[in-house]
Amino acid sequence: MAHSKPEVEASRAYPHDSSSPMGTQPPQRVGIQVPQFDPVKHLAFQVPKTLMMSDLGFADDVGVSPVAVTYPFQLFTREATQIMRSEVLKPEVRESCTFSSNIAANQLRGYAKEHAPFTYAAWRHPKTHAIVSKLAGVDLIPWSDYEIAHINLSVKTEEQAQAEREAHNAQRLHEGEGSAQGTEKDKPVVGWHTDSYPFVCVLMLSDCTDMIGGETAIRTAKGDVIRVRGPTEGCAIILQGRYITHQALRALGAKERITAVTSWRPRSPFLKDDSVLRTVRPVSDLNELYYDFAEYRLKMIEERSRREYEELRARRARGEKFNTLEHKAFLGAMADFMNHTNREIVEEWMVPKGYIETIDVPDVVVGV
Ligand SMILES: [Fe+2]
Repeated sequence: MAHSKPEVEASRAYPHDSSSPMGTQPPQRVGIQVPQFDPVKHLAFQVPKTLMMSDLGFADDVGVSPVAVTYPFQLFTREATQIMRSEVLKPEVRESCTFSSNIAANQLRGYAKEHAPFTYAAWRHPKTHAIVSKLAGVDLIPWSDYEIAHINLSVKTEEQAQAEREAHNAQRLHEGEGSAQGTEKDKPVVGWHTDSYPFVCVLMLSDCTDMIGGETAIRTAKGDVIRVRGPTEGCAIILQGRYITHQALRALGAKERITAVTSWRPRSPFLKDDSVLRTVRPVSDLNELYYDFAEYRLKMIEERSRREYEELRARRARGEKFNTLEHKAFLGAMADFMNHTNREIVEEWMVPKGYIETIDVPDVVVGV
């Protein structure tokens, strides 16, 4: 698994992306051989089927792309996911990056840049960005360094996993396969919700051979439910989760379930950014999260202001009249944008650690 390429090749593997505020490489420890991400060797992309927003009954302009969700697709090779898994399971990651909440007992957040150089390079590589963007139908970049490969972790003993499989099989026999009641696996891990960020890519890092359930249920505009099966090892799904109400159904019967969740936003500063921090503030190092959010939002203000300034100067140079209504509309939009940023940056003392407020979406039973 480990191979030793010279340092110079590592730096070629993820060139500086000047359009992103995340332009630095992770610190490498002197004397420790770290596997280097190589897109030729570690990406194993297969094109999946995709559901469009219009397939779910939404207008194309509801979100930032006409794409709603992909079916699971191979993204990384087994070798790559095993390296990622080994980085996640480092004791130092557990010690310094573990968070838990009323919604998820065991999460690892914000570890990649400092502790997981392979994972960090994999998600920052332009070829990975190109694949995710192509499938998402819009040019995307990871939301920030802090949101690279957030981990949801569930580890059970073989006895617990076996007991879940037996209970599931017994329930199916008792109720019949077509029961409208659903089974334990149809109960959600988290209730109906929308995500904080525009897009999400969920990658499975565990062997799912014995896993039962684990699908994502999504709601159409009319309120019907569609189930998308969960990804298997090395596979991923992409979902426009900010705009689609969804829930993750329980996964039973597997000893280990590790999913890596990377969030994305449009690369263009001129596309809308409806990102909120509601679901992440209580489970984050707020220092890192706020720096990431404030930096890229300021960068967007800079780019949008520069464009308006240049258009205004060009207009004047052409001898045209000042367009009062247009400029006032621009200023109004900028004020809204800044107010939004301000609302999301909540004072540290007001953030309840580990408590995520759930949203009230009328329930729909997810039948089989
Ligand atoms: Fe979600």
